[in-house]
Amino acid sequence: MCGIVGIVSGRKVSGMLLEAIKRLEYRGYDSVGMACIAEGRLATKKDIGKIGEVDKKVDFSSLEGTTGLAHSRWATHGGVSRKNAHPHEDCKGNISLVHNGIVENHNELKAELQKKGHFFASDTDTEVIAHLIEEHYHGNFLDAVKAALQQIEGSYALGIIHAKHPGQMVAARNESPLIIGLGKDENFIASDVPAILPYTKKVTYLGNREIALLTKEKVEVFGLDGTKRDKAVEAITWAAESAEKHGFSHFMLKEIHEQPQAIAETINGRIQETLITLAKELNFKDAELKKIERIIIVACGTSWHAALVGEFMLEELAKVPVEVEYASEFRYRDPIIPPDTLVMSISQSGETADTLAAIREAKKKKAKVISIVNVKGSSIARESDAVLYTYAGPEIGVASTKAFTSQLTVLYLLTVYLAKLRGVMPQDQVSNRIRDIRKIPLQITQVLEDKENILSLAASFSRHSNALYLGRGINYPIALEGALKLKEVSYIHAEGYPAAEMKHGPIALIDKNMPVIVVATKDTRTYKKVLSNIEEVKSRGGKIIAIASRGDHEIAKKVDHVLYIPENSYILAPLLAVVPLQLFAYYIALKRGCDIDKPRNLAKAVVVE
Ligand code: M6R
Repeated sequence: MCGIVGIVSGRKVSGMLLEAIKRLEYRGYDSVGMACIAEGRLATKKDIGKIGEVDKKVDFSSLEGTTGLAHSRWATHGGVSRKNAHPHEDCKGNISLVHNGIVENHNELKAELQKKGHFFASDTDTEVIAHLIEEHYHGNFLDAVKAALQQIEGSYALGIIHAKHPGQMVAARNESPLIIGLGKDENFIASDVPAILPYTKKVTYLGNREIALLTKEKVEVFGLDGTKRDKAVEAITWAAESAEKHGFSHFMLKEIHEQPQAIAETINGRIQETLITLAKELNFKDAELKKIERIIIVACGTSWHAALVGEFMLEELAKVPVEVEYASEFRYRDPIIPPDTLVMSISQSGETADTLAAIREAKKKKAKVISIVNVKGSSIARESDAVLYTYAGPEIGVASTKAFTSQLTVLYLLTVYLAKLRGVMPQDQVSNRIRDIRKIPLQITQVLEDKENILSLAASFSRHSNALYLGRGINYPIALEGALKLKEVSYIHAEGYPAAEMKHGPIALIDKNMPVIVVATKDTRTYKKVLSNIEEVKSRGGKIIAIASRGDHEIAKKVDHVLYIPENSYILAPLLAVVPLQLFAYYIALKRGCDIDKPRNLAKAVVVE
């Protein structure tokens, strides 16, 4: 999705803007642009392509001026072209703006503005905002933006500068995220935290239908009705380096390796000896949690897979009925949410439009919402009744890895916490469960040590065009996740299935050209059944890779390749089994020369429907 950065400073800003917009490359984009004000005039450079390529062509850092904006565009309205790249200007070339979101009434507004003589240079919805501000401008920049925003329907995160107001920047937000960074003698706007991490750790979050006036000395925030808003200043705890690659060839590989630490951080502070302490964060009375009769979890993509694992954990150990819903389906289904139903959402970014809309739908129906979120201060975090953060640090690779295992960690802690509170798990079992999760960071490190083996396996499978992933019980969502990882980074078509469902259709696909990856860790219920499914694949010539529990030598006789993971309780197997699948997808994509951190057509945070 688009990235926005803006700086008002006492020093030249183009170099900083370039660095900052590069730090948002992971969001996915097709064109890039920058505008700065120098000596009372706007200068703009923009084009389609990667930031590095465009910079070579236009030399962004040659732009002079101490106030400026940069934008990386992910096309929605209007094709990928130079004229559609942001920033966009008004007719006189005084106003320049960058926008994330969609102006829903842009056709009507454009027609009216054209009647009044405005000339449009692009096919975007965004450009109408520049002309509307021009219409309303009578000397006061902030007032003109406020008046224009009254006419706009839709979502926006906006950064706006005006050549006649060189030391000012106006920012506004409705539904699309925008943060304000507070520096020393300079202030910033950004669509996402990593952009400004090298410059400041102090931020404030703009709320919906809020507008801010920034100068280098101060930031004032108002409602669209003009009322002044006092905003809390929050400290970002992420280190600037955590958004850098540190010698890894890709963020995805780095983030796979960061999982032991991410899980340890997510556990830290939530376990005291033999107790899990979530009461403060959960922000609910024990009595309320005890009487929950049902949990509905809403999420998208990888977070939806985490929800499926959570369903298994919560039903099995806490004995609460759970339903998992695609957020995008839930929001349009007029869902029934009886009293004493808890709605949970899971989101790495905290900005996924469908998930946000789903929790709003739940709240409209008077449900309480708990969210598991990685990005502090994100929209989902702010709109939920309680937040359980994952402490995975910034996840830059579009393919989610460490956020997933951190989400599973939170779901597990919550499960054990609720199980104890609801009287279905005695203390000795709580202690055992705590002992098990504490082992996970080290056990993931052990899985990572097997990477050479996974690399050579990936090399021999990289030329296939399809793959089937199978798993049962709590490992079924891991089959889905393994398939998703492979398809998004390597563009190989991959399907995940519950292993037993294979014989109801997908078995027709199996021949010697179909790699089948089976998650077959030991458990008391389904392991033997999975072995039968393996036989079914083998007898049809399929090539099988098994993810198995260390010490299981039997399985090696039945399959072509085995990747072993350390033994732990079966309920925690997903946290270990997913790691070789992440590496497998990564190495195949590497072999195929794919753009691993920014796969085609994908964006890190999907903030549009
Ligand atoms: O930020 P969220 O967790 O809400 O994002 C949900 C999905 O868009 C995300 O998990 C997506 O599927 C990833 N690309 C998966 O790797």
